[in-house]
Amino acid sequence: MTAAWTSSDAALSFPEGFSWGAATAAYQIEGAATADGRGLSIWDTFSRVPGKVRHGDTGAIACDSYHRYREDVALMASLGLSDYRFSVSWPRVQPGGSGPVNQKGIDYYKALLDELAEHDIAAAVTLYHWDLPQELQDGGGWAVRSTAERFAEYAQLVAEHLGDRVSRWITLNEPQVVASHGYRDGVHAPGLTDDAAASAATHHLLLAHGLGTQALRSVRAGTPVGITFDMHPVKLPEGTQPEQVEKAWLATDAELNGIFLEPVLQGTYPADARAVLLPGESVIRDGDMETIRQPVDFIGVNYYSPVFLRAGDPADLRRGEEPARCELPGVVEYRPAGLERTAMDWLVDADGLYDLLLQVSGQAPGIPLYITENGCAAEDYVDPLGQVNDEERIAYLRSHLEASARAIKAGVNLAGYYVWSLLDNFEWGWGFQKRFGIVFVDFETQRRIPKNSAKFYSEVVRANAVPSRPGS
Ligand code: FCB
Repeated sequence: MTAAWTSSDAALSFPEGFSWGAATAAYQIEGAATADGRGLSIWDTFSRVPGKVRHGDTGAIACDSYHRYREDVALMASLGLSDYRFSVSWPRVQPGGSGPVNQKGIDYYKALLDELAEHDIAAAVTLYHWDLPQELQDGGGWAVRSTAERFAEYAQLVAEHLGDRVSRWITLNEPQVVASHGYRDGVHAPGLTDDAAASAATHHLLLAHGLGTQALRSVRAGTPVGITFDMHPVKLPEGTQPEQVEKAWLATDAELNGIFLEPVLQGTYPADARAVLLPGESVIRDGDMETIRQPVDFIGVNYYSPVFLRAGDPADLRRGEEPARCELPGVVEYRPAGLERTAMDWLVDADGLYDLLLQVSGQAPGIPLYITENGCAAEDYVDPLGQVNDEERIAYLRSHLEASARAIKAGVNLAGYYVWSLLDNFEWGWGFQKRFGIVFVDFETQRRIPKNSAKFYSEVVRANAVPSRPGS
C-alpha cells in the first residue's frame, strides 16, 4: 500500500484541467434490449445460455439507463464530475452490424449527449465495449477480417451522427479480454475456446482500431482518438532475480500488455510472447501493421490488479499459487498473503497502478494517459438508515488516487481518471452479484442511492486533490 500523505503534500493535488469522470458500458447499464429497433448483441445471446452468467442474469433491463439517463446525468452533475465515459451499443445504432443507421438508436445517444452538454459534462465515447451485433458473430465475429471493416464503417457513421457532441473517442475497450475470454477460454461472449480464432481476433481487433481511427479522423479530424487496454503490472520480489524469472517477466508483460500495446505504438507484435497467442502469417496482410500503428492522441489504462512472479518450483505450489502463465520452469505466479482482496477476489495493490503508469508513460513518451477504469467490487448493502457505507471502496479509491497523484509528480502525463463504475451494473459473467458502483442500484425498483464512496469521490473532484486521511 502507498504511504499516507498529508494535505500539505503537493503530490495530493492534480493538475488544473484534470478530467474527473465515471465510466459505464452500454450492455452493462442500458437495458431496453428490444426497444426502438435495437438488434441482438452477442451478450444477449450468450447471457441466455444456461450456466454462462450467474443466476441466469442478463442485461435485458440492467439499470434501465436507456430510460433513466437524465437521472444518471443529474447524479454525475451533483457529484461535480467533468467527464462521462460510456459506450455506444453497436446493435442499437446499426442493428445487424452493417447498413444504414437505426435513427432511434442515434436519437437516444444524441439526447444523452445533449443532456451531458447541458450539465457541462464532457463525453468520452467508447465505440466497442464488447456487444458485437449477433449477425456479425454469425459471420465469424472478430475471427474474420470483415468484422474490422464493418467496425470502420460503424465508427464513421457514429462520427457523422454524433461527432459534434463528443470530446474523445475510445475505439475499443480491453481487446485483450475480448480475445482471451471471448475466444480462448470462453467465459465471455461469444464463448469460444479456439486458440486460432483467438489469435485471429487479436489481429482483427487491432486492425479495427486502426481502420476505425482513420474513419473517425476522416469525419472530424480534431477530436482526440485513443484506445483502452486492460493492463497488469508484473511484479517481482525486491532484489536481483534468477535469469528464468527475468525472462518470465518479459514473457508475461508481453502477453498481458504488449500484444496490444506494442502493435499500436510500434507496429510490431512482441517477440517475447508465445507463438500460440500471436496471429499467424496467414492472418496478417501487407500494410496491416502500418494501419494498426495510427498515431494515438491518448492511451486509456484500465487498472484493477497486478500479477506477481517469483522463483519457485511449480510442482511444489503453496496455497494461492499457480504455474506462471508464461509456463517457464522455475517460476511461480503467486498471490502475496499480505494483500487485501476485493469481492472479485482481485488483489488490491495501489503501488501496482503507480508502477504501471510509469511503465506505460516510458513506453509511450509524450502520449497523454487516462485511467479509463479503476475501482472495486464490494459487498454493499443499504443500512437501516438508508445509507451504503462502503468503506473498502473509499479506501481503495483513496489509495489508487494517491498512487495516481504520485505518478503525476514523478512525471507521468496523466490527464484524467474515470472511476469504474458510476452505477452497480451487469458485471458480465457475474451478473448483478458484483457491485462496482459508487452509486447503489436497487435492481427491483431501479432506485439509485449514492454510496459513501460517491461522496468521497465528489470531495476529491471538487478539491482536485485527495483529502488527507482521517487522523493524519
Ligand atoms: C473491465 C471491464 C468493465 C468491468 C470491469 C470490472 O474489465 O472493461 O466492463 O467489467 O472490468
